[in-house]
Amino acid sequence: MNLLVVGGGGREHAIIKKLRENPSVKTIYALPGNGGIAADAVCVPEIGAKDIDKIVDFARARRVDFAVVAPDDPLALGCVDRLHEAGIPCFGPDARAACIEASKVFSKNLMKKYGIPTAEYAVFDDPSKALAHLQSGVSFPIVIKADGLALGKGVLIPQTLREAEAAVKTIMEDRAFGDSGREIVIEEFLTGPEVSVLAFTDGTAIRPMVSSMDHKRAGDGDTGLNTGGMGTVAPNPYYTPEIAAECMEKIFLPTLAAMRTEGRPFKGCLYFGLMLTPAGPKVIEYNCRFGDPETQVVLPLLKTDLLTIMEAVENETLGSLEVEWRDGAAACVILASGGYPEHYEKGKAITVPESLPENITIYHAGDRRTEDGALSTCGGRVLGVTAVAPTLRGALADAYAAAGSVEFEGKYLRTDIGRRALCALEGR
Ligand code: AMP
Ligand code: GLY
Repeated sequence: MNLLVVGGGGREHAIIKKLRENPSVKTIYALPGNGGIAADAVCVPEIGAKDIDKIVDFARARRVDFAVVAPDDPLALGCVDRLHEAGIPCFGPDARAACIEASKVFSKNLMKKYGIPTAEYAVFDDPSKALAHLQSGVSFPIVIKADGLALGKGVLIPQTLREAEAAVKTIMEDRAFGDSGREIVIEEFLTGPEVSVLAFTDGTAIRPMVSSMDHKRAGDGDTGLNTGGMGTVAPNPYYTPEIAAECMEKIFLPTLAAMRTEGRPFKGCLYFGLMLTPAGPKVIEYNCRFGDPETQVVLPLLKTDLLTIMEAVENETLGSLEVEWRDGAAACVILASGGYPEHYEKGKAITVPESLPENITIYHAGDRRTEDGALSTCGGRVLGVTAVAPTLRGALADAYAAAGSVEFEGKYLRTDIGRRALCALEGR
């Protein structure tokens, strides 16, 4: 089979490596892919993940048998709809279902309408009304979210009224996140451990993946700016079987049913960003795709063939497929360019050891090949170093040891990935 994967980050690399395990896979095209992905797929750097026309033309010309659309932008732009129109089977939601991530106003209204637990909220398209709401005696901190896609950066958590007023100005008037900020959601600040649950679903049947924990802030101890994610561990020790059962009953199944009722059945990977609050699990956000870097710890623990699952999702036969997971744990440490998520330099030569321990995988996120074939940095998050081991403690030790053996100028990493999870696990 010839496969096509849209995207070019660490998440796509993890998907591609997993798809490669299926012996019937001949060629995988990555559009655009990146320098490291080129070792596992045929990369097409000229075609970006948002070039929908070119993606469809390419898939037709190369007689692609199955396509996987991984990032949020092409999903929201209807890449899956267009591939389907061209007769190409694919994995991923259509644009109407991708709305669950692409519009926070849509997803909040959906949860309210169908009684799915989430933070209390109000929606505004007029900055003066938003300010009046903030001045009406709300409690702080409070959460202000741009409606649309904003590279994971459209959420601000002001501590004071003054900061909140500035946040409304940043999003709605300065349009720091572009048109995403035409409308905003202002919502209640929730507390509790966060859990990411990715789930395969064909619209009716659901197979949650192993849970995970992201580390979104740039600095140790969850300080500094929000990033795309500085590291992940799986499984997430806070996500007990009892909580999983509660989430299935109160959140996962009701969400799928709600989307069906709305005429927007969701097929693909649905990402539940959950907070385990004192009042029970609540939805912080939905994503219409695999998480990054959650995928880099979740897929290495998948035992069942990924392509088989993706085809079952496309064919709506997931209900008759058992999805199995390996025991043990996985940890991923992101190596970023110094300065990320703000200004950073590119073009630094990367050296990776010739051989790595068998339980280590390096997922390439932001690099490219120079003319002489060497790897060079070209993004904020450069590499994700994942280790799989019988215990989380072992996985973290191995991931950090391997992360230390990779070099590039300005390499930055958090040193406390998994610390909170270990404390929870070991009862400290
Ligand atoms: P999101 O992009 O919606 O995942 O938000 C980014 C981060 O902001 C989340 O991972 C949470 O840490 C935080 N966050 C979002 N909504 C809330 C909320 N209602 N209460 C507390 N923290 C939140
Ligand atoms: N790691 C968070 C996300 O993929 O949105």
